[in-house]
Amino acid sequence: MLVALTAGVGLARARKFEAHKWTQTAGVILSVVVAVGFMGLPYLIGLRIPGEPAPSVHGGWLVVVHAVTGILAVAAGVFVVLGVTGVGGHRLEPRNFKRLMRGAYLMYAIAILLGIAIRLGLAA
Ligand code: HEM
Repeated sequence: MLVALTAGVGLARARKFEAHKWTQTAGVILSVVVAVGFMGLPYLIGLRIPGEPAPSVHGGWLVVVHAVTGILAVAAGVFVVLGVTGVGGHRLEPRNFKRLMRGAYLMYAIAILLGIAIRLGLAA
């Protein structure tokens, strides 16, 4: 997902905005499915994914930072995709949202890298 989003940022830099739009939209949709389906919901209803070990720092601050940055990233990503593609009703001008897109990308990068660190047990 991070690879796809990073490739998508590269496309924006190369001014290939149509391709950028599709890669980032796909990345955000995937992130919603993964975050809500595999982390948010299981956490809220107290379910453990079979075969996945409990994070070694469960309840630790890295998990909290991962969750907070992840929620911000997904929220900003969904807001940008809905606003800029016009699906959300009003069509927003992408240029005005460059900062938010950069912020969303940064949050995704932090959340995903932390998630990898937690899963690998590096954060123990
Ligand atoms: C889905 C609808 C999207 C459209 C139509 C869109 C369109 C654009 C456009 C037109 C720019 C260039 C702005 C300018 O140079 O003035 C841009 C830049 C950028 N977009 Fe998006 N974007 C979308 C979604 C996203 C998402 C979801 C992310 C991140 C998760 C993202 C990350 C970025 C970044 C980081 C830049 C800045 C690239 C740079 O530093 O030059 N975009 N986008």
